[in-house]
Amino acid sequence: MSLLRHLSELAGAAFADLGLDASYGQVLPSQRPELSQFQCNGAMAAAKKSGRPPQEIAGQVAERLRSRPGVALAEVAGPGFINISVTDDALAEWANRTASDPRLGHEAAADPLTVVVDYAGPNVAKAMHVGHLRATIIGDSLARTFAFGGHKVIRDPHFGDWGFQMGLLIAAIAEEQPDLPYFQEGVTEFPDTSPVTLDDLQRIYPAAAARAQEDEEFAERARMATVRLQQGDPGYRALWRHMKNVSEQSQRADFAALGVEFDLWYGESDVHDLIEPMVERLKEAGVAEESEGAWIIRVDEEGDKREWPPLILESRTGGFLYSTTDLATIDFRVRDLGADLILYVVDRRQSDHFTQVFRAARKGGLAPEGVAMEHTWFGTMNGPDGKPFKTREGGVIRLGDVINMIVDAARKRLDEAHLAEDYPEEERERIAHQVGIAALKFGDLVNNRTSDYVFDLDRFSSFEGKTGPYLQYAAVRVKSILRKAEERAIEPGPLVPPTVPEERQLILHLLQFPEVVDRTMELRAPNHVAEYAFETAGAFNRFYDTCHILSEEDAARRAGWLALARWSLATLELSLHLLGIEVPDRM
Ligand code: ARG
Repeated sequence: MSLLRHLSELAGAAFADLGLDASYGQVLPSQRPELSQFQCNGAMAAAKKSGRPPQEIAGQVAERLRSRPGVALAEVAGPGFINISVTDDALAEWANRTASDPRLGHEAAADPLTVVVDYAGPNVAKAMHVGHLRATIIGDSLARTFAFGGHKVIRDPHFGDWGFQMGLLIAAIAEEQPDLPYFQEGVTEFPDTSPVTLDDLQRIYPAAAARAQEDEEFAERARMATVRLQQGDPGYRALWRHMKNVSEQSQRADFAALGVEFDLWYGESDVHDLIEPMVERLKEAGVAEESEGAWIIRVDEEGDKREWPPLILESRTGGFLYSTTDLATIDFRVRDLGADLILYVVDRRQSDHFTQVFRAARKGGLAPEGVAMEHTWFGTMNGPDGKPFKTREGGVIRLGDVINMIVDAARKRLDEAHLAEDYPEEERERIAHQVGIAALKFGDLVNNRTSDYVFDLDRFSSFEGKTGPYLQYAAVRVKSILRKAEERAIEPGPLVPPTVPEERQLILHLLQFPEVVDRTMELRAPNHVAEYAFETAGAFNRFYDTCHILSEEDAARRAGWLALARWSLATLELSLHLLGIEVPDRM
């Protein structure tokens, strides 16, 4: 239980006592800390509902609160706000309970959900670019937070390996190298090594995609190739497997560099066997209809303010598309994985696609009401010119290159700040990598998910300001304080009731961790944890500037303060962990 929850229960009971709903008792951190530590605003709403004057209700609730143990202050302010503070003894009690709890006061979900997080979204033949970066970073943070929250999380990148882009690649390669065995009738044995490298694929794919826009004959060949691949042509399948492996290898390297892991590595192709029975069912149920030789699902609904084009289930040539595999994947996730909630952490530009897919999934009975599907979209990462981040030449920039760039910047910053200076080379490199990744992730996650932001290498990698490296440094500094204490044989002890304002502020701040985690899950918004981590570092620094732990003479205070430092570190490290950021031991 958290302190805020406890206070909300006390206030809720007071409202209930007055014959009013207990939910009016929600207690929040105070907007005006100079007046009180907490506040409850429920009396105004309760007044509206009951017709009683708000100040009267607030007064009666405050009176009841004042009689409860641990409450130092409960008084009415303005039109019916209730200001609340707790005693320093009560704070110390809560602090000790929370600091010794491995979950730092957060209660694991009583009814855990099975949450599928669909993020990163790599594709065959396309190196991951910055568009996939946000999906990866945000998705990973949400997955970590839901897992910490006690839910069963299944992370799946939904590898793009089955749609029209495969047909484009096959058609283009067949034209470039028609003698390859993959294109010969009757051949069933194929080489073990790939005929194409990732560089080849990255050259071939954009050219083929552009050509299909203009060259209808080529586009038709690509559509036929897609169908032939999907129907199991052995040569096409063998070539496809090579393309898939080559792509996957490089992407796994990028994910490893980012410290991002998946529970499943499924692709669109993995639901292939589910597609035909699903399409049959949808046709039989009359959900899918024939239209100009293709099979479609109409997704417009009453009250729509715009037109919704139907979802194409099966193309005129008999091919299955991005939407088809997404529908079959929902079927799989609901039936086989038991998903209660599916979060699609994907660029905003796909919002129409997901609206169509979700509507079709409901209409076709693939996702029953109890299963929530959400497009957890995000804004664009822009370059300094305010336009989507590109290379200097205007091309898409590869994720691997972005990672190298930021790690280089981190190395320079370490030099400038004379950090990790005479450490063994291997440790220094590891720290530079950790700092670089922290810069990249925090620079992203601190923004509201739905806003665009500017990728600013200099600002992100700085050890000053609201940055990942600053937070790592703050955490490392606490670690070094704890190490020094250990060297001097100073042991942490129970936290004592705070007497110094900075100490009290820090305790109050640390006690809010559970609510921050809940808010992050509820809003799917890691920026709440990011802000909180930043404030934690600030609150700790202010405390440490005033309270000189190691030179404090009063032994009980010294031990309590040390425990407070340790709790601050645990909170900071756990917050950073939820953001996917590692803290070095020293630097
Ligand atoms: N591979 C897709 C892309 O790069 C993203 C996949 C998103 N997930 C999904 N279930 N459609 O655009």
